[in-house]
Amino acid sequence: MKKIMLLALLVLSTQIACLSEHQAIPQNKNPNQDTGPADISDDEDQEDEKNEILSYNKDILPIIKNRCSLCHNEGSNLPFWENYETVFNSKELVKRRVFIVQDMPRFNATEMTLEERDLVATWIDQGALK
Ligand code: HEC
Repeated sequence: MKKIMLLALLVLSTQIACLSEHQAIPQNKNPNQDTGPADISDDEDQEDEKNEILSYNKDILPIIKNRCSLCHNEGSNLPFWENYETVFNSKELVKRRVFIVQDMPRFNATEMTLEERDLVATWIDQGALK
């Protein structure tokens, strides 16, 4: 009689263990399935933006014409940033004045935006390609 009770207890306990396992698996899996793929595609989008290689002619020259050439032009004694080599040779200085110190454009006379400053710095960090 005792043996039967023990056996019944054993069967019961394994069933309980199985039951709780069954409950545990879907509880753990479902949230991952719901948010998992969305998270991954978000990350990919962000990386695409970061990995986009900027170029002087396409991305930077239009900003320079808008924001720098009012003062940095061929008639001035200042560096002429519409010349790629001129910017390239002073790229660390340009990054410092435009992005880190932000005292260029002088008095922000040409109302350069933070996005444009960030773009110039990113372009320089990427190697300042033409
Ligand atoms: C309102 C006029 C004005 C604008 C606009 C302007 N600058 Fe300047 N910039 C100056 C003057 C004046 C100097 C020289 C005095 C100085 O270094 O502060 C100068 C100097 C610099 C220097 C230092 C050059 C050197 O050889 O020491 C850098 C770098 C520079 N500017 C970058 C820029 C960039 C990049 C832009 C556009 C995003 C820009 N500036 C827009 C007036 C301007």
